Amino acid sequence: MKYQRLRGVKDVFSPDNSVWESIIAAAVSVFKTYNYSLIITPTIEEISLFSRGIGEASDIVMKEMYDFNDKKGRHIVLRPEGTASVVRAYIENSLPEKSDMYYIGQMFRYERPQTGRYREFYQIGVESFGDATPYKDAEVIILASAILKAAGIKDAVLNINCLAADAGYYEKLKNFLEEKKSGLCGDCKNKLSRAPIRVLDCKNEGCRQAVAGAPLITEHLTPGAGASFSKIKSLLTAAGISFTVNPAMVRGLDYYTAVVFEFTTDKLGPQQNTILAGGRYDNLVEELGGKKTPATGFAMGIERLFEVLKAQEGTITEAGPEAFIIVDKEFIDRGFELVNSLRNSGIRCAMGYQERSFKSQFREAESKKAGFAVIIGETEVNTGKYSVKNMADGSQKEIEAAGIAAYIKGRP
Ligand code: HAM
Repeated sequence: MKYQRLRGVKDVFSPDNSVWESIIAAAVSVFKTYNYSLIITPTIEEISLFSRGIGEASDIVMKEMYDFNDKKGRHIVLRPEGTASVVRAYIENSLPEKSDMYYIGQMFRYERPQTGRYREFYQIGVESFGDATPYKDAEVIILASAILKAAGIKDAVLNINCLAADAGYYEKLKNFLEEKKSGLCGDCKNKLSRAPIRVLDCKNEGCRQAVAGAPLITEHLTPGAGASFSKIKSLLTAAGISFTVNPAMVRGLDYYTAVVFEFTTDKLGPQQNTILAGGRYDNLVEELGGKKTPATGFAMGIERLFEVLKAQEGTITEAGPEAFIIVDKEFIDRGFELVNSLRNSGIRCAMGYQERSFKSQFREAESKKAGFAVIIGETEVNTGKYSVKNMADGSQKEIEAAGIAAYIKGRP
């Protein structure tokens, strides 16, 4: 029997893995400068954490959960997102009230797979607790933008909105949409009573036409939220971050309470053009059993960043080892000694340990795109100097073992 991976999941290997590594390295380095610390939570949780946290009416909870009963009959889910898990961990472990954390890990959603949309995907995310100021909202958005920049993403567009509307707004919106009901898709007709604001975000052409002229949430913000939203906008402008206010952007998760934001790109299809998304969720900690705590955060999909980078760069190639050791079959031990000592000096190098001809070892050095080949044959052993061949220009030099690392480091 020939096994195949399941639909909507993927294997990542060379050369794509080098892009994954650089995305993760860029993010971790930016997190360190912003003083955010790593949190690791399990991939399995009790299902009610998400049905309560994300919202019973959301697509994720209604259609996309990977859930099962374990051997003791507990109803478990493979986490569809990171926020509810981090909130659970924050409450359960009594973490400091002010905590700035980041995570990297798999999420699972039973969606229709396409480019940039998977059933198992990786998010790099941030959750910040205990700070209700607009400075924190601005910090989190600036942090998101810094990671995208460090990862090499060009031309990402930032949309922001605020969901803290006054009480009259939802009534007004519902009345407006009721009048347009005949033009809405079936899904939106259902949403009308449960979550009318979600209708604003529907991609269906009929719905888009029906919502034109709907009352704008940004004109109905509570006074506090309005002031905070203005401050966030001026902080972003001062930090050199350009953005568009999009009153139709509502997000697919129920926990957001105020500012929400999305970075989009035109490199992926319209259904998955969002590469990073987040916002403020000031009620979730309390809803999940903790003290009322302000919080904000975001998550980005590594697969989507990867696809954008691939579209930007064209082909992806991985850099090879700096050195490849080539040995006569008599001198495998010497080669092994050298490969260890070069590695101890921080040189990325490789060697094959089987008895093989020089020719076949050279072929491997070439296919691995090695910078240098270090040759250990009888002549080299007799003279005490190994031949170090620059694979790019073919030049060769005889060097004692102790000097090889310095030579390679000095020749990029
Ligand atoms: P989300 O919008 O559901 O938000 O997902 C965030 C990002 O994860 C998306 O913008 C996208 O890049 C990626 N993503 C989502 N679904 C898929 C998929 N099926 N395949 C590949 N990538 C995907 C959240 O998950 C919130 N927890 C974000 C957040 C954190 N809000 C506050 N804190």
